[in-house]
Amino acid sequence: MALAPSKDTATAKGSASTRDASPARPPSRTPSRGFWSSTIGKKTVMAVSGLIMLAYLVAHVAGNLKVFFGPEEFNGYAHWLRVMGAPVLHHEWGLWIARIALLAAVGAHAVSAYQLSRRDIRARPTRYARKRKGSSYATRTMRWGGIILGLFIVWHILDLTTGTVHPGGFEEGKPYQNVIDTFSTWYGNTIYIVAMLAVGLHVRHGFWSAAQTLGVGNARRERVLRLLANGLALVLTAGFIAVPVGVMTGVVN
Ligand code: HEM
Repeated sequence: MALAPSKDTATAKGSASTRDASPARPPSRTPSRGFWSSTIGKKTVMAVSGLIMLAYLVAHVAGNLKVFFGPEEFNGYAHWLRVMGAPVLHHEWGLWIARIALLAAVGAHAVSAYQLSRRDIRARPTRYARKRKGSSYATRTMRWGGIILGLFIVWHILDLTTGTVHPGGFEEGKPYQNVIDTFSTWYGNTIYIVAMLAVGLHVRHGFWSAAQTLGVGNARRERVLRLLANGLALVLTAGFIAVPVGVMTGVVN
């Protein structure tokens, strides 16, 4: 619930600022706007959208590992992604619903991260800004990791979904061959491996932060949550990196 300033406080503020040319007026806010503009509201949006993307990544890494079972299995999975929900929905509607949900999660995550970051910088005393007292190693890693992942997602879609920057001839509906083309170039391997390491670091700290924001963390659960965060980060990074390594070593060909 948004807390409106009491009449007394408002009057006191008003009289204290009688010499001001533009006295500060308390903004009128609806509960949802109050939630969104509060720091905890933005952190909750980050936690929930982060968990949605994490669920996608877990499903995505499991699907990607099908590449080790050959082209039929892998292309069949990619085809299933396009037609999922088809008995109930129109062709590709399931895919578009998932895409829109994912895009909304990425957008909400990025906007709240940017705004929290601005707020953090503004709250820092200028004199100490150079000492970087306000931003810890973890905060900086999360910011840079987030920027790297945002750029990677754009590159990845242009590479394997639209084929715009794909090396070699991109073939729609043939992701197995497309994946092999990508990981047959040094820059494809470099971009993906750097991004996968960023995914691991981001998930490791992000999962932990989300648990704190959502009130799941406490002293007793700390060990379990840390183990879970490390385990998820490791499984995602190793699972994703297995694909370029599989192509480079000739296991996937
Ligand atoms: C080695 C690692 C990866 C491989 C081999 C891979 C493979 C693929 C392929 C083949 C597609 C296209 C599916 C299709 O349109 O038929 C795809 C789509 C996608 N991937 Fe990945 N992926 C990897 C890592 C990641 C990571 C780390 C993320 C997120 C950070 C990610 C996010 C996405 C997204 C958002 C799409 C677009 C889905 C769509 O709307 O079509 N991928 N990936």
